[in-house]
Amino acid sequence: MYNSKIIGLGKYLPDNVVTNDDLSNMMDTNDEWIQERTGIQERRWIEEGSEDTSAVMGAKAAKIAIERAGLTKDDIDFIVFATLSPDYYFPGCGVQIQDLLDMPTVGALDVRNQCSGFVYAISVADQFIKTGMYKNVLVIGAEYHSNGLDKTTRGRGVTVIFGDGAGACVLSREEDTTKGILSTHLHSEGKYADKLIVASPSIAHWVPEIIEAGEEDISYFPYMDGTFVFKHAVVRFSEVIMEGLIKNNLKKEDIDMLIPHQANLRIAQFIQKKFGLSDEQVFNNIMKYGNTTAASVVIALTEAWEQGKIKEGNHVVLAAFGSGFTWGSVIIKW
Ligand code: UT7
Repeated sequence: MYNSKIIGLGKYLPDNVVTNDDLSNMMDTNDEWIQERTGIQERRWIEEGSEDTSAVMGAKAAKIAIERAGLTKDDIDFIVFATLSPDYYFPGCGVQIQDLLDMPTVGALDVRNQCSGFVYAISVADQFIKTGMYKNVLVIGAEYHSNGLDKTTRGRGVTVIFGDGAGACVLSREEDTTKGILSTHLHSEGKYADKLIVASPSIAHWVPEIIEAGEEDISYFPYMDGTFVFKHAVVRFSEVIMEGLIKNNLKKEDIDMLIPHQANLRIAQFIQKKFGLSDEQVFNNIMKYGNTTAASVVIALTEAWEQGKIKEGNHVVLAAFGSGFTWGSVIIKW
């Protein structure tokens, strides 16, 4: 048995900054409400006419991660791509990465676990490496939300939250099993699927039916029961972080860096308080990028690492919760 270890990280955010004031020109919202309820000051939205998509942004982040790992595309054995906003209904974005990076015909897998997507993707990659099947796995989280949001007052409860972006990492074989990914913990509770959902187009409710239903059918926009999701998020985040600590005989004080999914600054602050962590022990960048769902944890991890906030030997905890509901954590000895 081996462990897996993150040896390269990269991120890509579109240039186009959309401030809260920009949003208040589109819908009935304001900077004060958004900052107070979510902590978000601005987000990136892909500009019209840009070449960027989830796959394209993912490829840009992946190139940086591979280079920083000191590898080339030919060293990658497998691709895992997490997104809820794929370029196509099918095939998935993973195969586009194989093509965009001109890689050998390695396997490619898409993970559809929304806000927990990156945590699930890391766990999948970790299993392939632990068993010895692969040595280097490219793991990507990328989202292109902005083209699928309701930019009218009707959609304001959801639309102001989401941003576009991508992050990637290379997971590689680590012979020392006391280092790298120590454990991953995954959960789901499908009875709450309809609390945070894009319900269609689905095979059961295909495009012609939506068109026929006319303006009343907005099932292709994301729906969220925000308060319900919030209440479950704070409980599940805490549980799954605790689960990871217990599994590894660690205490709250052993956490050097917590990277929570960037869903809402208030959720992160609640967790911080609950675990008695200082501002230096929790990394947040939702202020700049909003919620980039499957990309948020890896973008935040990349930034924390770029800023020198993660050092060798640190215990780093990744945690996420979102649509499904799905949630999970990753415990890392860096
Ligand atoms: O990433 C996946 C997991 N997602 C999450 O964890 C998100 C969890 N939920 C949340 O972060 C919060 O519930 C939200 C930020 C989405 C909403 O905050 P809230 O404090 O729960 O507000 P609310 O939905 O209860 O809405 C309060 C009021 C409502 O008005 P009334 O009914 O009190 O008159 C809304 O219509 O705020 C109104 N509102 C807005 N006002 C200005 C909703 N959205 C907006 C807006 N601007 N953008």
